[in-house]
This record gives sequence, structure tokens and C-alpha cells, in this order.
Amino acid sequence: MRVIGFRDGFRGLAHDRILSLERDTLSGILTIGGTILGTSRDKPHRMLIDGEIKDMTDVIVRNYEAHKLDALVCLGGGGTQKNALRLKQAGLNIITLPKTIDNDIALTDTSIGFDTAMGIATEAIDRLHSTAHSHHRIVVVEIMGHKAGWLALGSGIAGGADAILIPEINYRIEPIVEAIRQRVRRGRNFSIVAVAEGAISSEEASERDVLADQLEHAEVKNERKKARDKLAQMDAQRSNHTLHLAQQLETLTGLESRLTILGHLQRGGTPSATDRLLATRLGSACADSIVAGKFGNMLAVRGDGMQPVPLEEVADRKKLVPLTHPWLESAKRVGTCVGD
Ligand code: F6P
Repeated sequence: MRVIGFRDGFRGLAHDRILSLERDTLSGILTIGGTILGTSRDKPHRMLIDGEIKDMTDVIVRNYEAHKLDALVCLGGGGTQKNALRLKQAGLNIITLPKTIDNDIALTDTSIGFDTAMGIATEAIDRLHSTAHSHHRIVVVEIMGHKAGWLALGSGIAGGADAILIPEINYRIEPIVEAIRQRVRRGRNFSIVAVAEGAISSEEASERDVLADQLEHAEVKNERKKARDKLAQMDAQRSNHTLHLAQQLETLTGLESRLTILGHLQRGGTPSATDRLLATRLGSACADSIVAGKFGNMLAVRGDGMQPVPLEEVADRKKLVPLTHPWLESAKRVGTCVGD
């Protein structure tokens, strides 16, 4: 098999920028983070080229044909799965592998990167405990995960966070304040609050519902515009939502608070053994699928095995934390406040 890589995701495919993936090129990459190919957030059908948004699907198909490729393997999260489906529909032999720290791809148990990111976030929470307990503070730690709570929930439990807030449960401030006060009454005058970047308060959620309803049903154009503007304003303020939460908790509990946003630290460094193993298993299963001529699927992780799932079933779906998920149940059983 001859393997070539396209640089910077779909952009490299459109611009035909390749890297031949020989034994020497690949040697040693198992232990390093990031990607030697580079990546981008570009979509084949909406790419910014010379200041203009262009549909590059046909160009991509031509480049695929010019290289006489038997298959195109796309590694990525939800966006990648959607874009790969478009290329499947354009006639290419596609296989995708699930790769995102968010663990939010439908129909796969897990994805490459999640375990590493969860380990980093857990270690960060461990380290934040030192300041929290020495200074008697509330430490709010914002954890990535896009609109899913897997990363915050997993690392929050593993790091022993006292409250964990995830997008799947609209949180109320009162139970969090009460949980912190209860800890103070038990002589624990510090708390760690792990917050998923997509977590949202119940007030914000209902305000958003009303605006979304107005946007859909308002008959007067002006009212629809007002609702759209307000939603855009709320989105812009989202970047501060954990700071706002930390300030609210400080005011309501009387304990000093600090905010740490882990951000892209969670996406870097040495991959965990579990992720290296997963990537190797997925990669070899992918090679087997190519040999067998089975295309149009994502290779999903199911327990110790792999299962091909048609891209149509994966694209445009998200795997959120079910409210009855055992992780959530266990978090509650050990007394973690989840803001409900
Ligand atoms: O999907 C992975 C992820 O790290 C999300 O957790 C986060 O919301 C997003 O990407 C950040 O994207 P960017 O690196 O483009 O700012």
C-alpha cells in the first residue's frame, strides 16, 4: 500500500499539498501530540479562497482522481464526519476514524484524544487543589468539550471536583452555593467547581428558548431581528460565562474565588497509552477495511472491537451525556453537586 497525507485537512486536499507517508516520515510520531500533516477547520464546500467562499468539492474529486487513490481516510470530530459524508456523496471511497477530545461523536464508545485530554484536565484539577485548600478559595476550572460534558464530567470525577457542571444539565446557582456552604460547615473551606465550556445556567437556557421561539415565530420582521441580535450578544458574552459564575459564587458564599481556563493545554503534549493503543487499533482496522474494499463508513469503537457505521448515521448527530449515564450516577452517589 502507498500512503500519502494531505496537509492541513480538507484545505490541502483542495490545494493538492501532499506529504508522502513513508516509514521514515512516520517513525517516532506515536509519542508526540498534534499532527505532522497540520490541520484546519476548512470545509470542502465552503472554503475561503482569495477572499471568496468557494465550493471546492469538484477540485477535491479531481485531485483524488489525479493521485489514483483507492481510498481517502479522514480523521476528526463531528465536522469532519459531516464533510466526509459530502465527499462520499461526491463519489469518493471514504473511511473515517473518530478523533476528538470532546468524545461527542455518535455511535462510537470513544475517540482518539479524549483519554489524553481527560488525563490532562484531571492533573490540572489535582494541581488546582493545592491553591484551593491552602488559600481557602473556590477554584472554578473551565474544561473544553464543545457542547458535550464528557471531558468535564470524566476529569471532574477523577479529580474529585466538588461540583461538575455540564451542558446536558442546565445548572442553578443555589444548589452549587449550598454544596459549597455545606463543605464549609464540615470544615472544608475550599471547593473545586469543574465547568464544561458549554455548560449553561437555567436562566440563560430559558432566555435562549424564548428568543429562539421569537426567531422562529415572530411575525414582525423587526422582532425577529431583535431576537437575533440578542442571541448574538448572548453568544458573544459566553466567553465570560465561567468568570461570571466564579464572581457569583464569591458574592454568594463569601469565599474568595479564582477562575482557570484550561483551553488548548488540553489538546497538547504526549498522548496517553490508551490513546496510542486506540489510534493503532483504529489505524490497523482501517487498513483492513481498505484491503476488503469496505468504504463509506466511520470505524466506531465498540468495547474491544471496531464496528463500521455508515457515515449517514454519524453525520449531524452528537453523543451527549445521557442523564442516566453511569458516570453521572456515580458522581451524584459520591456527593458531587451537578447543579440540578
Ligand atoms: O472540538 C475540539 C475542541 O477543542 C472543542 O473542545 C473546543 O470547543 C474547540 O475545539 C476549540 O476550537 P479552536 O481550537 O478552533 O478554538
